[in-house]
Amino acid sequence: MHLERPSLKWQDEHLDYIEEWDGRKLQPRNFRFDTDNSYDQYLKELIVEEAGSDDRVPTSNYFLIDNNRILGMVTIRHVLNDYLLQVDGHIGYSIRPTERRKGYATQLLAETLKITDQLGIVEVLVTCNADNIGSAKVILNNGGIEDEHFVEAHGNIVRRFWIRS
Ligand SMILES: CC(C)(COP(=O)(O)OP(=O)(O)OC[C@H]1O[C@@H](n2cnc3c(N)ncnc32)[C@H](O)[C@@H]1OP(=O)(O)O)[C@@H](O)C(=O)NCCC(=O)NCCS
Repeated sequence: MHLERPSLKWQDEHLDYIEEWDGRKLQPRNFRFDTDNSYDQYLKELIVEEAGSDDRVPTSNYFLIDNNRILGMVTIRHVLNDYLLQVDGHIGYSIRPTERRKGYATQLLAETLKITDQLGIVEVLVTCNADNIGSAKVILNNGGIEDEHFVEAHGNIVRRFWIRS
């Protein structure tokens, strides 16, 4: 099992993963793509995202691969802005619906922390909604220390955890 950057060879698998979400909004959002455009175009957009821009922090994206299948997806935001510090944190991830509760998200986050380490991020912020018990456990399994929660304008409670390398 390893993390791998999106590339042309994963196009069909990526579509398959999206189909499994059955119309719900795919997370992380960086993995949503407009099927009217070519996959090549989508990959080019990811490269632009990695560099960042005036209003977007640099972002890296990886698939969790096992046996030639995409089991999960993860986005790493290299720096925090005000919104990320309160709500989204450095890392966003998902596991495909049919592969949940098998320990894969816990492994995905562990692999992702090796990359944040390489990026020089010594304090990694990982967040989840208060009702996302599975995600909170994934973060705690990886050494997350809980900080103050944040309440969004519409009342959603975000739990915030720091993982120190
Ligand atoms: C949250 C999510 C990533 C968890 O993935 P996963 O592969 O099922 O997680 P794991 O198998 O590593 O489970 C970790 C722990 O959480 C528990 N868990 C997982 N899903 C759970 C759920 N829905 N309810 C209660 N506990 C849950 C597991 O039993 C395990 O417990 P343990 O550590 O005591 O053994 C997955 O459900 C998902 O992709 N959800 C949609 C996207 C999302 O919410 N992303 C996170 C945004 S913050």
